Amino acid sequence: MKLSQSQVKTLASQGFLVLPERFSEKEVALLRSQVPALLKENHPGNVIEKEPGWKFGEGAGKSWGKDSDVVRTAMGLHLRNEVFNTLVHHPKLIAPGFQVRPEPMYIQQVKVNVKAAFSGSVWQWHYDFATHHKEDGVPRPLALNLHIFLDDVSHYNGPLYFVPGSHRHGEHGARLDDQTTSYPLWVVENDVVETLVNQNGIQAATGKKGTMLIFYDTLLHGSPNNMSPWDRSIFSLILNPVSNAYQKSHRPDYKHHRDLTPITMAEPNCLESFYELAESK
Ligand code: SIN
Ligand code: MN
Repeated sequence: MKLSQSQVKTLASQGFLVLPERFSEKEVALLRSQVPALLKENHPGNVIEKEPGWKFGEGAGKSWGKDSDVVRTAMGLHLRNEVFNTLVHHPKLIAPGFQVRPEPMYIQQVKVNVKAAFSGSVWQWHYDFATHHKEDGVPRPLALNLHIFLDDVSHYNGPLYFVPGSHRHGEHGARLDDQTTSYPLWVVENDVVETLVNQNGIQAATGKKGTMLIFYDTLLHGSPNNMSPWDRSIFSLILNPVSNAYQKSHRPDYKHHRDLTPITMAEPNCLESFYELAESK
């Protein structure tokens, strides 16, 4: 479950790491089976895409059986669903986190970013620490973002774009954008993005379902609209060291959970007892 020395080096130098097909087909089928019911819930943690006119046509959000009110992100999932509550303890997901940060960490955020077919809209250029620091008063950029692809992610359905090595430039400056999408985000100005991209390039994080990503809090990233006919849903867990906890709590708890209990690791087969849930769908 641990990373090799060369993977640890790649993560340190690029600021992100792609672990192809780390979760099995069965595990991903189970996770996917839980999503439609969660997206239908009338829950404040379900943030709906802003409708810019041409979107939400026939076929939007295909896999999830929805043609309107397309969910952009569904948050707080470990408190809403037993499978996701088990997943956040899975050693495949969190052992690399402890390898990188061998200290007690708490669950900061748990979500699925849906990025629905034809409808899922942009995540502007940003780095997560800007939001963590400015909104939640997190002192230092030590949080880790751990992703699992719940759909195949290609160059066409809105993959994450990373600027390799940009985490080593520290903070990039940020401005709150609460207009572009339905999710207020601290974004980075274009001239800063241009300089970093001209130095370091852009890399799209693509791969099959079950692929995992790890990335650092000051890594510059974003993702384009999904105008393809294919959904692009990604699960995300953010862990933050307890020693680096939030100091402000004006945002809803599903954006930054208040419980500082250190996360524990479950057994590698922890999801198996739920497999029948996926088979019955
Ligand atoms: C995305 O889902 O494309 C953006 C995720 C992130 O910014 O962490
Ligand atoms: Mn982000």
